[in-house]
Amino acid sequence: MVNQQKPLIILGIESSCDETSASVCVNGEILSNITATQAIHEQYGGVIPEVASRIHQQNIIPVVDAALAKAKIRKNDITAVAFTQGPGLMGALLVGTSFAKAFALALGVPLIGINHMQAHILAHFIDEPKPSFPFICLTVSGGHTQIVLVKDYFEMEVLGETTDDAAGEAFDKTAKILGLPYPGGPLIDKYAQTGNPNRFNFTEPQIPQYNFSFSGLKTQILYFVQQHQKANPNFVAENLADICASIQSRIVSILINKLKKATIDHSISRISVAGGVSANSGLRNAIEKLAKENNWEFYLPAFQYCTDNAGMVAIAGFHKYHAGKFLSQSAVPLARMPIAIDQ
Ligand code: KG4
Ligand code: ZN
Repeated sequence: MVNQQKPLIILGIESSCDETSASVCVNGEILSNITATQAIHEQYGGVIPEVASRIHQQNIIPVVDAALAKAKIRKNDITAVAFTQGPGLMGALLVGTSFAKAFALALGVPLIGINHMQAHILAHFIDEPKPSFPFICLTVSGGHTQIVLVKDYFEMEVLGETTDDAAGEAFDKTAKILGLPYPGGPLIDKYAQTGNPNRFNFTEPQIPQYNFSFSGLKTQILYFVQQHQKANPNFVAENLADICASIQSRIVSILINKLKKATIDHSISRISVAGGVSANSGLRNAIEKLAKENNWEFYLPAFQYCTDNAGMVAIAGFHKYHAGKFLSQSAVPLARMPIAIDQ
């Protein structure tokens, strides 16, 4: 008789912010990645934590059922349950954590805690081509902005991060100043396509090493708009494309200059980007150009694995299972969870 090895099946759960997501990973391959997005926050101009956790509660069971059905996997076949333990909104994390613990307990399978920021980076190991180590990852989303030196799956060093707003917040908050709806990042990108990025010059903040700051830029744009509107109340509407192109160009140059410095200083020849802001066309073009000019390899996960999703949690769980890193039933969510805790 042929000795067939049982497949390694990981159920991944993500609930750190406003996406409830579940994914099934079989032997390192993502078979399903189902996400319920909470559109309700758009009307408030940002995520309301209490509302987010209540909707996670409503969504989590249907989302997990849908992920299992799409992957054609039965609950009893699951080898381990991986969930986002932090960082994130406490109430939101609690829903995923409680669900994952109960599920693992009921099935009698191991529980794996995943750092959300590591998961964003490990999304690079879902599809081909996968980067080899070491590489530098720029993780940019509505909640995070980090430059990470990735030495191995669970050996990562945060070289720099934002000291105030995240890159996605910089897009969203400046979009709000321009009167655009939330989230404004994709709209700035859209209007920037036909604008002149050199029309208005916003200054680049001088922040040490590989850290970022976006709050000064936001204030600069607020004063710029207020001043011009005094002379011409239609200033924004009449110059929207050029304003958006100029804002985008500055946010992108802030990100690119730090990424370039970190990569050169550490003599690395592989760069990557993760997180929802990687959808920005200006950022993608600039990183591709940077890689080409320096003869560096450039990696970008498929978009469904860049925004918050459970596929990245499931693949991180797969590698953590192999590393033998498990949690007990006494595990708790961690709103603040530096990458270092997780090693
Ligand atoms: O990773 P993500 O989906 O959620 C988290 O915040 O974790 O990222 C969402 C962020 C929002 O700030 C959104 O405005 C921004 O990504 N974003 C963009 C674009 N698409 C999404 N920002 C600029 N240009 C885009 N095309
Ligand atoms: Zn995220």
